[in-house]
Amino acid sequence: FSLRKYNTFGIEAAASQFVEISSVEEYVSLRHKGDYSNLPHLFLGGGSNVLLTKNQDALVVKISIPGISIVQEDADFVWVKGGAGVVWDEFVQFTVDRAWSGLENLSLIPGTVGAAPMQNIGAYGVEIKDTFESLEALNLKTLEIEVFDAKACAFGYRESFFKRAGKGQYLISSVTFKLAKKPSVKTSYGAIQEVLAAKGISQPSIREVADAVIEIRQSKLPDPKQIGNSGSFFKNPTVSASEAARLISENSGIPHYPVEGSSDVKFPAGWFIEKAGWKGFRRGDAGVHAKQALVLVNYGEAKGEEILALSEEIKKSILDTFGVVLETEVNIL
Ligand code: EPU
Repeated sequence: FSLRKYNTFGIEAAASQFVEISSVEEYVSLRHKGDYSNLPHLFLGGGSNVLLTKNQDALVVKISIPGISIVQEDADFVWVKGGAGVVWDEFVQFTVDRAWSGLENLSLIPGTVGAAPMQNIGAYGVEIKDTFESLEALNLKTLEIEVFDAKACAFGYRESFFKRAGKGQYLISSVTFKLAKKPSVKTSYGAIQEVLAAKGISQPSIREVADAVIEIRQSKLPDPKQIGNSGSFFKNPTVSASEAARLISENSGIPHYPVEGSSDVKFPAGWFIEKAGWKGFRRGDAGVHAKQALVLVNYGEAKGEEILALSEEIKKSILDTFGVVLETEVNIL
């Protein structure tokens, strides 16, 4: 079964078995029946944060659980629940259309609602942990549904319990967010300010912030429908204060950001990659995006191993040039 359509990198790789589920019950009954019990199960949402480097000797379970519902509401907040299979941006635009605030900065991120908590998706000064209320997940051992609050999810920068201790043990089935009815926009991110200023907007609505984010993303990030990619391939590295002082003194003008609740400092990986000369690099069909060096791309027929090899070369180059270790953000399968 070809997985090409199921990963935004557009990599050709086969799954020995494939099934698409539209409810948790469907998966549970498949387990009770003992179907495919000889294979490991690999869960896929939008396939927007994976790099397939080989054929998958597994049952690939594509999670297509639908539904958006309002579970609770008061004068100030609304609690909105999305099925794991809902396309993330459709969920975001549903909330933006109603002027509920909290997810607008996360417009146009590829992927699904159920995958969002895995890596605490974030952009333009916002992460999902900021409005996350809870999620439901099927425990793959007991086949019972468990509810996780934000604390249990142990969110960090592109991190959660589900990437660490809980890895491979749960199927996230729905996620609930607590959104504000009284708009409070977050426009501190420089690029958002620039777009709004260019339009003469000083008190933006939720929709205007979402549209600014969409405009920025479209100008920098490749559309997976046109050029295969999985967004940022690496994490932005976080280093100690002393290491940061060295980097800042050796690299004049290097951008850097404080890390909440710590003396650590975060540096944009894209800056290192661009300075090391990789931006726009292409070998065969594997490349580094010309407008955003943090994004590796597949121009058509690249193999997963070729993208992976390129990423390893980039890591080595950044370590040799700057003494900085880059960590892969995408899941290598
Ligand atoms: N930069 C460069 N050259 C580049 C790219 C970036 O010099 O080619 C430097 C610039 O100084 C720029 C700074 O990096 O000002 C930040 O760049 P950008 O705003 O594009 O963000 P990023 O740090 O590269 C992160 C997230 C993105 C998210 C943006 C916006 C990670 C790994 N990536 O990228 O998330 O959209 O911020 O908030 O944290 C993703 O996770 O897949 C993703 C796209």
